Amino acid sequence: MSLFDTPFDPAREAALVTGAGNGIGRAIAQALVGEGVRTIFADVNADTVTAAVKSSPRPDLASTWVGDLANSAARDALLAHAEAAVGRVTHFVHSASPPRREADHAMAVSTETWAQMHAVNLEAGFHLARALARKLIAAKVGGSFLLLTSLHAGTPRNLPHYSTAKAGLAMLVRELAKTFGRYGIRVNALVPGAIAAGGFVADPKLARHIPLGRLGAAEDLAPMALAVLSNKVSAYVTGAAIVVDGGLSLTNWFEPPELE
Ligand SMILES: NC(=O)c1ccc[n+]([C@@H]2O[C@H](COP(=O)([O-])OP(=O)(O)OC[C@H]3O[C@@H](n4cnc5c(N)ncnc54)[C@H](O)[C@@H]3O)[C@@H](O)[C@H]2O)c1
Repeated sequence: MSLFDTPFDPAREAALVTGAGNGIGRAIAQALVGEGVRTIFADVNADTVTAAVKSSPRPDLASTWVGDLANSAARDALLAHAEAAVGRVTHFVHSASPPRREADHAMAVSTETWAQMHAVNLEAGFHLARALARKLIAAKVGGSFLLLTSLHAGTPRNLPHYSTAKAGLAMLVRELAKTFGRYGIRVNALVPGAIAAGGFVADPKLARHIPLGRLGAAEDLAPMALAVLSNKVSAYVTGAAIVVDGGLSLTNWFEPPELE
């Protein structure tokens, strides 16, 4: 039997993807239903998440949820919806994140924008992961969680609300991986480079800093996300930060050397 033919067990596994209305979350959620996995598409934007389900390869396996994950009551509602729609969630992907605006530098970012960025990334990531883990632990079933962090968890982005939220998420992945490993729940970070999706308005000139010569697309992330999520492909991977950046982090944002 081929390793990659059946990366998931759709009879026993189901997924919840936040930020599934656009970009990387949408690409991952659509790829999951394409593999036959029942998946909750969760997002704050009703129009985009409805369109994401419609354009997915298996809308019949998708369930839509709309709400603001900064709000704790909404997070509880999402968990209740997930249980009603798919039963046990074994695979959790946290991709939701508010838009980044270049104007929100350290001297300008508002208290509200700071709080919303931290609430959606870090607080929602923690509370959803812990609630889902509690259910898996009670049922003695393993799982696989994937949180979207950033190269800017480690290097400044001129957006302190964003980089500090991602730095927190990066440590959260490691904390949860260490605590949940004994229950067979793996927790990893997916670290995109410069991906031309909604959350990042790409300057095409950035491509010259990228060894593979181009900006990334959301579809560049989905295959690796599925590989890390799969308990068959990545059974022994936890607490890792998987970088999918075309080599951007190698250049440290400076021009690569002139070569003959
Ligand atoms: N695009 C990149 O270059 C890049 C680089 C590094 C990290 N990331 C991370 O990857 C993830 C996805 O990025 P993307 O570019 O696809 O972003 P995106 O903006 O295209 O998608 C994010 C989604 O999250 C949703 N969202 C925002 N606030 C929400 C809330 N309060 N509740 C529920 N949903 C909410 C949005 O509606 C949107 O559909 C993010 O966590 C981002 O920080 C992206």
